[in-house]
Amino acid sequence: MNLDIVILAAGRGTRMNSNIPKVLHQIGGDSMLGHVLNAARKLESEKIHIVVGYAAQQIKTEFSSDKELQWALQEEQLGTGHAVMQAMPNIDISKPEKRVLVLYGDVPLTNFSTLRKLVQQASENTLCILTLLTENPKGLGRIVRDDSGEITAIVEEKDANDEQKKINEINTGIMVIPATKLNTWLNSLGNNNAQGEYYLTDVVAMAAADDECTICAMVIDDENEVQGVNDKAQLAGLERQYQMKKAEQLLEAGVLLRDPSRIDIRGEIETGSDVEIDINAIFEGHVTLGNGVKIGPNVVIKDSKIGDNANILQGTNIDGAEIGEGASVGPYARIRPGTILKENTKIGNFVETKNAIIGKGSKASHLAYIGDAVVGENVNIGAGTIFCNYDGVNKHKTIIGDNVFVGSNSVLVAPVTLADNTFIAAGSSINCDVPADSLAVARGKQRNITGWKRPTKK
Ligand code: UD1
Ligand code: CA
Repeated sequence: MNLDIVILAAGRGTRMNSNIPKVLHQIGGDSMLGHVLNAARKLESEKIHIVVGYAAQQIKTEFSSDKELQWALQEEQLGTGHAVMQAMPNIDISKPEKRVLVLYGDVPLTNFSTLRKLVQQASENTLCILTLLTENPKGLGRIVRDDSGEITAIVEEKDANDEQKKINEINTGIMVIPATKLNTWLNSLGNNNAQGEYYLTDVVAMAAADDECTICAMVIDDENEVQGVNDKAQLAGLERQYQMKKAEQLLEAGVLLRDPSRIDIRGEIETGSDVEIDINAIFEGHVTLGNGVKIGPNVVIKDSKIGDNANILQGTNIDGAEIGEGASVGPYARIRPGTILKENTKIGNFVETKNAIIGKGSKASHLAYIGDAVVGENVNIGAGTIFCNYDGVNKHKTIIGDNVFVGSNSVLVAPVTLADNTFIAAGSSINCDVPADSLAVARGKQRNITGWKRPTKK
């Protein structure tokens, strides 16, 4: 494709009232610029240029893993036309069929399919604008057409006369422009307007005056796709639109959502059949839910895989873990990175696990910390058990065999191994390995003093 893409992202976004540059604010767990880039990358362009100015370094660092991106610096924000000009030296304008697609870093939710359609309509001598018909055109550039309906110019709100202000077809800002022409037009832009800026939109009148050139408009019907973000209210509004769309996709795929308006997907989610999700669940990063998985209310899951028929109960937090088939986790469990729960395990309330493999059918039903451990099958970890994995400097491992019973309120001081079929008496502090088939008792012996009298007040 003879296409270069220029993404404008130099503005500070003063109305966001924030030190974070506007385009790094997030929607659905990814920055606005990240969303724009995702759509842009699918277009198979020759190069993607990003024009940065405010907090340029911070933005570049954020996207430093993509070595293909072309960065252009606009030191002073002198207008959208001036911004595009900064990218021109890196665009090969020698080929007449080369076109430039202009996108805004703060218009995050434009679909790839919309952009593709727009690009397909623009040819060597056609400038194509994405426009929107709206009841509320205030603040936006108006599309001016002549009596025969041909586009003759775009007029900014601040420069528009009363008649033009009534026009309800607006410029979304997204347009495709023949590159050679664009270069010529940009070089003759002036800033004699209400804002003293070099407007990109002024090239439209130049195209209209150019006999070789035609102008086309593609009218979009979904306002959210071209909604820009200037303040936190718009950011929050667009976030809800985005989430509603994600929820609709899940419903379509057959997921049962107790309330589609109370779910947040901040990344990618894959779902099997007959998944049920209760209210206020948050999914971050990449999450996979197997067939028949049930997610309770107020559950947060990040970068994890939940096996078939697992049941994740209320208030549970799972991060970087693998939950086996038929496992039950929570309510109020905290499953931290490196946890692998095998089939039919049970992790109950106020249990924390980290870097722990827990074997088939094993249980820790209440109040325990299991860290840096390998636990066998059919093990019972009693309430209040703590795996002391940290000596203040280094982490150590606890290894537990199959069919082990750890009595309540035990402390397992790592490194330590409990072999198969061991039984740990409640309240034990275990700091030596326990051989197979044995009982370990490691607690003060009980003494009963009979006939003992309580002290009396003097
Ligand atoms: C622009 C359009 C207007 C359109 C509207 C849609 C112009 C002159 N006007 O107006 O017709 O209806 O978008 O939202 O193009 N930017 C830079 N450098 C600059 C100025 C802006 O990189 O010097 C970037 C901003 O960061 C932003 C985008 O360009 O991402 C748009 O700039 P903004 O100032 O919001 O343009 P509008 O006045 O809204
Ligand atoms: Ca704007």
